Amino acid sequence: MAKLTQSVDLTSRGRVAVITVDNPPVNALSQHVRQGLRDGITQAQGDHAVQAIVIVCAGRTFIAGADITEFGKPPAEPGLHGVLDMIEGSSKPVIAAIHGTALGGGLEVTLACHYRVGVKDARFGLPEVKLGLLPGAGGTQRLPRVVGAEKALQMIVSGDPIRADEALKVGLIDEIVDGDLTAAGVAFAEKVLNEKRPLKKIRDLNDKIATAKAKPEIFSEFRKSVARQTRGFRAPENCIKAVEAAVTLPFDEGIKRERELFQELMRSPESKAQRYFFFAEREAAKIPDVPASTPGKEIKKAAVIGAGTMGGGIAMNFANVGIPVTVVEMNQEALDRGLGIVRKNYEATASRGRLTAADVEKRMGLITGTTDWNAVKDADIVIEAVFEEMPIKKEVFAKLDGLAKPDAILATNTSTLDVNEIASATRRPESVIGTHFFSPANVMRLLENVRGAKSSPTAVSTVMTLGRRIQKVPVLVGVCHGFVGNRMLHQRGTQAEQLILQGALPHQVDKVLTDFGFPMGPFAMGDMAGLDVGWRIRKGLGRKSPVADRICELGRFGQKTGSGYFKYEKGDRTPIPDPDVEKIIVDVATEQGITRRFISDEEILQRLLYPMVNEGAKILEEKIAIRASDIDVIWVYGYGWPVYRGGPMFWADQLGLKNVRDKLNEFRKQSGDAFWTPAPFLDRLANEGKSFTGQ
Ligand code: 3HC
Ligand code: NAI
Repeated sequence: MAKLTQSVDLTSRGRVAVITVDNPPVNALSQHVRQGLRDGITQAQGDHAVQAIVIVCAGRTFIAGADITEFGKPPAEPGLHGVLDMIEGSSKPVIAAIHGTALGGGLEVTLACHYRVGVKDARFGLPEVKLGLLPGAGGTQRLPRVVGAEKALQMIVSGDPIRADEALKVGLIDEIVDGDLTAAGVAFAEKVLNEKRPLKKIRDLNDKIATAKAKPEIFSEFRKSVARQTRGFRAPENCIKAVEAAVTLPFDEGIKRERELFQELMRSPESKAQRYFFFAEREAAKIPDVPASTPGKEIKKAAVIGAGTMGGGIAMNFANVGIPVTVVEMNQEALDRGLGIVRKNYEATASRGRLTAADVEKRMGLITGTTDWNAVKDADIVIEAVFEEMPIKKEVFAKLDGLAKPDAILATNTSTLDVNEIASATRRPESVIGTHFFSPANVMRLLENVRGAKSSPTAVSTVMTLGRRIQKVPVLVGVCHGFVGNRMLHQRGTQAEQLILQGALPHQVDKVLTDFGFPMGPFAMGDMAGLDVGWRIRKGLGRKSPVADRICELGRFGQKTGSGYFKYEKGDRTPIPDPDVEKIIVDVATEQGITRRFISDEEILQRLLYPMVNEGAKILEEKIAIRASDIDVIWVYGYGWPVYRGGPMFWADQLGLKNVRDKLNEFRKQSGDAFWTPAPFLDRLANEGKSFTGQ
């Protein structure tokens, strides 16, 4: 065996040379991998005893792409393009033998090979678009030549991988193999040699793109079909242009075009944000004082208390991954209502073809409803989702303390209450922790796990692992009012209210945020969630929000009543500005002695988002969030912050913290309101020329 570099070796099996890549954890195409591939091909080419070459990977996956940590650094030789040209230009057939995920540059390596085989559970994709990029090593030129332009567009612009059976069907791989992968690759190479199969160079294949050449309208149609989901992103359009180039230009010119489009993206702020976010998301899984090796409790059975809006959705998360879950309610009626909604949700998914009728029954079969509290006795985790009132929460936890297994995790879904106080109702506060799901709980990816003062490492480890198992993105935060997400949202809400009194209108405020990239603005969001909820809470607390209160007094509770801050046509969720609401706003402003004025979109944006950044700084200083990037993950997954802007803390870093701090001071001067006082931590970073995220 010849070790070519630290991560690549070359062996031979008879007349077949085997190049093995071993670069944990995901065999990314680091410099030494590229060099190893180049040297392996060179040596095999020069060796008369070798007649074919197999490329295979050790570990859990085939090459999962370029090494993202090398992006933004000076390029290190050899470049990937040169290596791929060598593979494709080899006079001896090169076969990729694939397991795990062949992604990005990894799939591009296989496309430079003459043949590809893969195991049954392998996946194949070009996910560069998710990093704000496009496949920059020939992927946009070679994939359409193998699978056709339409399929290539769909794969490259969605970034989603396909399974082996589909890859075989569309011609991306030549065979599905099983057993020892190296042996299977070698056996396939022998077949190629014995049958004297030609050296299939994808660059020379033109049949599949001929169809698109004759039908150029597929590109405009495709653009239209993805316009909504790609709004605001820069990469999808460049991906489409690159595939268009594959169809209209000769291969080498297409490659040149691909490189230009790739470099344009690499320099873009959108890609910088998306690459930052890739690592931010993975970083959030790391808890400094609770290392990954900390044993968590294995969750074989779960219980949820309360089958309301949240309880039902939380139960679905367990059933979706095969964990049996018991839902406990106060009475049969509430239980039937709650589980009825769960069934309806599943059936709606089935009617869209995303679940079979059998799946619906299987999942419903994993959810057991009861009014008998003894049912929590065998649960490994109990998640409480009852009314948001401290006395009720404490009563529930005292009861759970008496019934649950000694080592069960007792979790609360509270969105505002003090997790430490809830824990104090038990004799085992170390087992109590917050699991703050977002509504709808079966859909939203964010899970804000709230660590109480006494929560044990086991409790922390359990809910972080569980979060991933139920396909959420868990982020650990500390206890404070509103935790991280809602605490920052509150700042935005305060300003939204001020802005409409001082001269803006709800649709103008909302438009500034949707133009920024949010799916909706604060007023449309209020209408969707229902304005009556907040109204009732305010009445209970003796608080006022004059415009919102007046709107609610008219029975305008939002979408569900056909009007709120906006009007709605029957069966349509599009918010329509309403002169009646404008009149209410103007009246309230007059009563409060406010002279309304023109407010620019820029001022609206700054006044909505800078206070959030400022609150984020306080959250960091109080150590409620572990790191600034965790706050960004919360905002992208929980509140629709556009990922191509990285998250509020990354965004502020790009603006320059000094600029943000100075603007806060300016607003404070203008308004005389202490609300605008910059957080000491922000002030310090601004003075030192530093950033929150190191970006
Ligand atoms: N480069 C560098 N590091 C990478 C990486 C990459 N391409 N892909 C993953 N990693 C790192 C992760 O940061 C993580 O590091 P950590 O343990 O220190 O946090 C570790 O590998 C494991 O990753 P995951 O936690 O994501 O592991 P999973 O098993 O859940 O997922 C995966 C594996 C599906 C391969 C997933 O990591 C993934 O999607 N990776 C990115 C794939 C990708 O985007 N490839 C395209 C890159 S761009 C490109 O190829 C450009 C080319 O066209 C020129
Ligand atoms: P909900 O009012 O829809 O449901 C609460 C359910 O709990 C009701 O079905 C009620 O019958 C049941 N319940 C009340 N007391 C009980 C008891 N002692 N034993 C058993 N069942 C009992 O409320 P929702 O919206 O589901 O909220 C639940 C919790 O989730 C609250 O703490 C809330 O703050 C939190 N939350 C709510 C979000 C939302 O958007 N609705 C988002 C995130 C958290």
